[in-house]
Amino acid sequence: MTTAETIALFEKHVIANYGRSPIVAVRGEGSWLWDADGKRYLDMFPGWGVNGIGHCHPRVVAAVREQVGRLMHVANVPFYIEEQGRLAQLIAERSFGGKTFFCNSGAEGNEAAIKLARRYAADQAAAGAHPIRYKVITAYNSFHGRTLTTVAATAQPKYHAGFYPLPPGFVHVPYDDADVVAKIIDNETAAVMVEPIQGEGGVNVPSPGYLPALRRLCDERGVLLLFDEVQTGVGRTGKWFGHQNWGVEPDIMSLAKALGGGLAIGAMVAKPHVAKSLVPGTHASTFGGNPVACAAGIAAFEAIEQEGLLANAVRIGEQIKTRMKAVAEKVGFIRDVRGLGCMIGVELDRPGADLVKRCMADGLLINCTHDTVLRLLPSMAATEAEIAQGMDILERALSAT
Ligand SMILES: Cc1ncc(COP(=O)(O)O)c(C=O)c1O
Repeated sequence: MTTAETIALFEKHVIANYGRSPIVAVRGEGSWLWDADGKRYLDMFPGWGVNGIGHCHPRVVAAVREQVGRLMHVANVPFYIEEQGRLAQLIAERSFGGKTFFCNSGAEGNEAAIKLARRYAADQAAAGAHPIRYKVITAYNSFHGRTLTTVAATAQPKYHAGFYPLPPGFVHVPYDDADVVAKIIDNETAAVMVEPIQGEGGVNVPSPGYLPALRRLCDERGVLLLFDEVQTGVGRTGKWFGHQNWGVEPDIMSLAKALGGGLAIGAMVAKPHVAKSLVPGTHASTFGGNPVACAAGIAAFEAIEQEGLLANAVRIGEQIKTRMKAVAEKVGFIRDVRGLGCMIGVELDRPGADLVKRCMADGLLINCTHDTVLRLLPSMAATEAEIAQGMDILERALSAT
C-alpha cells in the first residue's frame, strides 16, 4: 500500500484525534525507523518513550516470538501466570520491594494507583485511624493520562475542556513547591501524586529538596505518596526508576511506556502493606499481565541489565546536554537545557513545532511539548555516533531558525 492509500484509509475510517504527519511507519530497528517510501529516520522519540531500548530489540523480539507460539493469553482468574510473577519480581527487586498489579497503559496504572490510594484510606478510616479521605493532590503541568479520572488528575485546563463534569477529589498545586502542599493537605487528603520529572509538562526537573520534602510531609501527615513513573520509569533517567535519583521511595508508583520493551503493558506497584487493600473484587484488568507483554518486559529488563543500558542512558544524557548547551551559546534563543539520562528538554524562547518539522524532513524524529520545549527520549541503547548524528541534524535546524 502506498503512503497516500494508507492516509486515505485513515481519512475514511480512523477517528482524527491525532495530529499526524504524512508518514507511514513500516519498520524499526534500534534507533532507526523506516517509512513506506523507504526513507530512514533517526528516532530520538521512539514510540513516545515506549521503545525505551529502541525499536524491535532482538531480546524482546525473541522472547515475544517464543511466547506467542506457546501461550498468548489467559485471564487472571482462575490462572497464575509465570511470566507475570517473574516481571513483578524484577520490578520489586530493583525498586522498593512493592507488589505489582498489571494493566495495559499508563492511564490505567494511574487509575489503579488512585483507586488503591482511596481504598487504602477507606480501610484506614474503617479501622478508626481517621475520617474518610479521598482527595489527591497533583501538580500543575502534570500529565497522568486520558481517562476521565486521570484527566481530572492532570492539572492542565487544556485537557479538561469539553469534558466536564470531571470526577471530583483532585486538588491542583504548583509543581516543585512542597510548602504549598504542606498548606493544602487536610484531613480529607488521601495522597499526593507527582511525576519525579514532569514529561509532557516540559521536562521539568524538580529542585533537589522537593521529592524528599514531599516524602517527609506525607509521612508526617499519614498521606500516601504516589509517583507517576510512566515516563521516567524502567531506566529512562539512568536509574531503574526516576525517584531513585533523589533517594526517596513512593508508597505507590505507576509504570507503562518502556516497561514492555515495545509492547503494551502498564503497572501499579505498591508497598505491601498498602497493596493489601486491593482484595479480590476491588480491581481487575482482562488483558493485564498477559504472558506476551510480561515476557517482553522480562526481556527488556534483562537487556537493560546485561547490556549496561542504565550507564549508557547517563552517557547519552550528558552527550546531548553538552552539545545542546554549546549550541545554545551560538543561537541565543535556547532558554534552558535540562533532564536526566534519556529524558532531555531543550526549552526555546519561541514555539518549537516548526523545528520538529524541519528535523523530520532532515531525517530526525523529536517532539515538542508545552509549545516551547523540544523533548528528546532517545533509546537507552543508542550509540555515541547515533546521538552525534542526531545532534548534527538538530543543530542544523536550530541554526536555520
Ligand atoms: C507521566 C505520564 N503518565 C501517564 C501517561 C499516560 O500513559 P498512556 O498514554 O499509556 O495511558 C503518560 C503518557 O504520556 C505520561 O507521560
